[in-house]
Amino acid sequence: MAGFKIRFLLTISTLLSIVNANKLVFIDPNDRWQVFEGWGTSLCWFANALGGFPDIRNQAADLVFDISKGLGLNVIRYNIGGGDDPSHHHMRIGGDVPGFLPCENCDYDWTSDANQRWFLFAAKDRGADIFEAYSNSPPYWMTNSGCSAGGSNFADNLNFTYYDAFANYLTDVVEWYSLEGITFRTLDPFNEPTLRAWNVNGSQEGCSFNDCSAMNTIIRKVGDSLYFKGLLGNTSVSFADENTIDQEFFTISCIENNVMSYVSQYNTHAYGGALRGELHDISKLDGKRLWMSESGFTASEEMSASIELSKQILNDMRNLKPVAWVYWQVIEHIQPGIDWGLIGADFSNSSTSLDIRLAYYGFLQYTRFIRPGYQIISSNDEDTLAAYDAINKTLVLVCTNKNNISEVWNINVTMFDIGLFSAYRTSNNNEKLTLLPNTWFIIDGIINYESPANSITTWVFNLKLH
Ligand SMILES: *[C@@H]1O[C@H](CO)[C@@H](O)[C@H](O)[C@H]1NC(C)=O
Ligand SMILES: *[C@@H]1O[C@H](CO)[C@@H](O)[C@H](O)[C@H]1NC(C)=O
Ligand SMILES: *[C@@H]1O[C@H](CO)[C@@H](O)[C@H](O)[C@H]1NC(C)=O
Ligand SMILES: *[C@@H]1O[C@H](CO)[C@@H](O)[C@H](O)[C@H]1NC(C)=O
Ligand SMILES: *[C@@H]1O[C@H](CO)[C@@H](O)[C@H](O)[C@H]1NC(C)=O
Ligand SMILES: *[C@@H]1O[C@H](CO)[C@@H](O)[C@H](O)[C@H]1NC(C)=O
Ligand SMILES: *[C@@H]1O[C@H](CO)[C@@H](O)[C@H](O)[C@H]1NC(C)=O
Repeated sequence: MAGFKIRFLLTISTLLSIVNANKLVFIDPNDRWQVFEGWGTSLCWFANALGGFPDIRNQAADLVFDISKGLGLNVIRYNIGGGDDPSHHHMRIGGDVPGFLPCENCDYDWTSDANQRWFLFAAKDRGADIFEAYSNSPPYWMTNSGCSAGGSNFADNLNFTYYDAFANYLTDVVEWYSLEGITFRTLDPFNEPTLRAWNVNGSQEGCSFNDCSAMNTIIRKVGDSLYFKGLLGNTSVSFADENTIDQEFFTISCIENNVMSYVSQYNTHAYGGALRGELHDISKLDGKRLWMSESGFTASEEMSASIELSKQILNDMRNLKPVAWVYWQVIEHIQPGIDWGLIGADFSNSSTSLDIRLAYYGFLQYTRFIRPGYQIISSNDEDTLAAYDAINKTLVLVCTNKNNISEVWNINVTMFDIGLFSAYRTSNNNEKLTLLPNTWFIIDGIINYESPANSITTWVFNLKLH
């Protein structure tokens, strides 16, 4: 009798909450979107710095790549450094990524870039399985300015005498790594090529390619070079890693059809732009894989950084629908203003402690549960990301309350035959992927949930097998 009474009371309160709910979220397993292949990061600066610190690099690698001890990032972007003129000293800390070919008539130095390479293999050892190589700048001696940070007054910087040498350089590095056990599935010769942000003696490697014919020529030469070296079966071209979604959309439109045959993947950064649906549609039409290959947010110990990160993931995953989502630098040098790390570190201290920020847990709310092979499915709410794993029969919902007041959510999971389920939350209230006490009931297919202000909640539902 007591049980009956409790159920009865719960039903009344649930009905009242449904009436008073801030939102009703419906999850539709019949409307299926992209099949996800992973969350990622670029190695580049943090790996160039911390890969040389034996005291802390294993802990750092666990936090980033290991799925039981950390984020479990499996999509890795490796930066093929150009290498700057050795007499120059203007790069930011970690930004002096070494090249492999110090001069035109030199031999390759394959001992170069040992620090970033340590992280590349550490990622593979911890389960990373998708590797991309990309270039920020050609070696300084191939450039017009003689500097790998960019051209004079932001001009295009690859000297046309060295177009073939540049393509050959990139594919030689890819070939060498394939013999060492890393197969780069894609190779992008550009980074934000039309941004005009890359200036001589700047603080990081960069190279403008502002003209379509130059980009067409470079992609063709890189593709031809992969072909001649017998690498094309494993490695194809991705491009253009433009700074904004809209610029990526426009750059794609200027690449010729015959050149496009070397391209398997479009990479966009998401620092701006609104043409998410348009870029998704053109990638489908062209038959190219689509990645959100770079984004990042100012570091903060506050929940606001997690909320900003989550809003971007939601907007990208729901509207751009990339199959991979890649954070720029998961670990960053602690530097107020320009530090975007989910983990902060002192790149000048070989025994630095690692400052795990709240936004790390915000990202973990996604990366721990929505795994490679999950299919993103429809939810009618812009603050919810739903993903379904047909193999292991799991439904995951990541729900963000981006408001400063608590909200009542009614989540309609009628379409699923749910067994056990659990919920994890990150919030300002000292919750860091905290497993919540299981006090919810699914009544008439609805979960009634009061979501605290500024919080991210992940629901994991095991579905019944029939
Ligand atoms: C860049 O730096 C180098 C080395 O410090 C210097 O020789 C050169 O004049 C600088 N170039 C410009 C354009 O400032
Ligand atoms: C480009 O390279 C060629 C061959 O090394 C050289 O003669 C020429 O001066 C370079 N151009 C610039 C702008 O540096
Ligand atoms: C292609 O990749 C496979 C698996 O990584 C490797 O065994 C093979 O040697 C690669 N082939 C070439 C031509 O690089
Ligand atoms: C380096 O980091 C360690 C661990 O946080 C700290 O104890 C030490 O004081 C730091 N050294 C310097 C020079 O900042
Ligand atoms: C399904 O579960 C198995 C065993 O736990 C695991 O190896 C596999 O990665 C899971 N697949 C997906 C898509 O989550
Ligand atoms: C939440 O509060 C912060 C700080 O007062 C404010 O900056 C932000 O705009 C508020 N956000 C919303 C969604 O109301
Ligand atoms: C939940 O979804 C089902 C299936 O679409 C629908 O029949 C039902 O009315 C929904 N429940 C609520 C409370 O909206």
